[in-house]
Formats: sequence, C-alpha cells, structure tokens
Amino acid sequence: MNIYETTRLRDEYLLFHYGSPDQIYSWPGGPREALGFPARIVERFSTGEVERALDLGCAVGRSAFELSRAAAEVVAIDYSQGFIDAAKAMQSAGRGEVSRLEEGHCRESLVVESPPGTLPERITFEQGDAMSLRPGLGSFDRVLAANLLCRLSEPGRLLGRLPKLVRSGGELILTTPCTWLEEFTPEAHWPSGSTLAWLQSELSAHFELLEEHDEPFLIRETARKFQWTVALLTKWRRS
Ligand SMILES: C[S@@+](CC[C@H](N)C(=O)[O-])C[C@H]1O[C@@H](n2cnc3c(N)ncnc32)[C@H](O)[C@@H]1O
Repeated sequence: MNIYETTRLRDEYLLFHYGSPDQIYSWPGGPREALGFPARIVERFSTGEVERALDLGCAVGRSAFELSRAAAEVVAIDYSQGFIDAAKAMQSAGRGEVSRLEEGHCRESLVVESPPGTLPERITFEQGDAMSLRPGLGSFDRVLAANLLCRLSEPGRLLGRLPKLVRSGGELILTTPCTWLEEFTPEAHWPSGSTLAWLQSELSAHFELLEEHDEPFLIRETARKFQWTVALLTKWRRS
C-alpha cells in the first residue's frame, strides 16, 4: 500500500502545507520555528523572475504555489494521484477542507486557504514518477525536490536526470531528512556514507554547491503528537 494515497496522509499534508500556524500547532512554546517549511524552502532560490520551475514530489502543492510567484510556468509532479487531486482542488477552489485528527475517534473539520499573492493559473499539477519522468518535460530555471530522495526506490535515477532538467545557470534545491528506510529504498541504494557526501559526488560534475544548511519542519499527527524533523537543504547551480 502507498501511504501517500491514504486520506490520513492527505489530511496531514493539506494541514502541513496550507494550515495556519494556530491550526497546526496551538501549544505555548515548542518548535514553532519549524512551521512554514514548504514556503520557507522556496525562499532559498535567488530572487528574480524566471520562465520555468519544477516541483518534484510536490505532494498537495504548497511549494508549487510559492514557486508561481516568480515563475511564468510551474510544473508540479507527484506519484500520488490522491495528492495531485487534492492539489488541483486547492488550485481551482482556493481552499480545501481538512479532517484534522485530534485523537482516537475525534476529528475536527477545518478549512485551509491557498496562499495569497500566488498565481495558481501558472501551475500544472500532474501525476508522474520522478525516477522516470515523461519525455518532453523540457528544462527548468528552478527545480525543487523537497524530502523526496529518501522516499524513492532508486534515487540515483533522479540524480542522473537532473543535469538535463536544470538549465545552464539554473538552480536546484534538494532537501532531505536523510531518513533512509527499507520500506521506501532498498538498502543497496542508500548512500554508502553521508547523504551530503553522496550528493556531492553525484552532482559536482554538473553543479556547483552554493549552500548547505538545516531546515526543520513540523507535521501534526494529532493534537498532542508532532513529527519534528530536520532536513538537510542543499542549493546548487547548474554549470
Ligand atoms: C515526504 S513527502 C514530501 C512532500 C513535499 N515535497 C513536502 O516537502 O512536503 C514525499 C512525496 O514524494 C512523493 N513520491 C514518492 N515517490 C515518488 C516518485 N517516484 N515520484 C514522484 N513523487 C514521489 C510522495 O507521494 C510524497 O508526496
């Protein structure tokens, strides 16, 4: 079973991507700085308008909305048809309903809104496989793959396609919490050392590493249980 096709994960991700801080986390103290991850990581691209941007593993689409502020065309691809349907519903309605799990059998219905100032008409959401992207996708000025690599069975196949996907001078942002699990990636395809060293050895022939830092994110599971995780963010320029 693909967990990313479940309604539980769809609701968790709609809240993670579009929920207001108080809808996601209402406790005093705690890791509030981890909120807003899908928008925060897009701010790491250089400023300025570009022609084309690509969001791989877009889930329910928040980072694609953010990319639309400064890209005339955004293509956003995810393997989960359920996530793509939810992203398209946010795009057409500008809002979405979330059944937020509080605990056990207790749920609360909430409305989440698409982010103001974004340009959803610039975005095309499509179902697809980041390891086997369709021919004719073309090349992009900005490519984002957020928390995707360690969910792929063969991440090397995506890394191998990146030089063709990113235009010369274009930027690539990869984030990953480096949570390598057999459930998603056979151990033979995990990096043999650190994820950072692996990315450098796979990408440095075609990309210059511009920055590398840690980005926390927070996913609400119930009213009292949260995943606080730290992703490694690397930003690259295509030579
Ligand atoms: C951990 S989530 C990250 C989602 C989103 N980028 C974010 O940062 O919130 C991983 C996403 O990758 C998608 N995914 C998994 N395998 C994929 C594949 N082969 N091609 C494209 N997307 C994939 C899942 O459906 C899920 O939406």
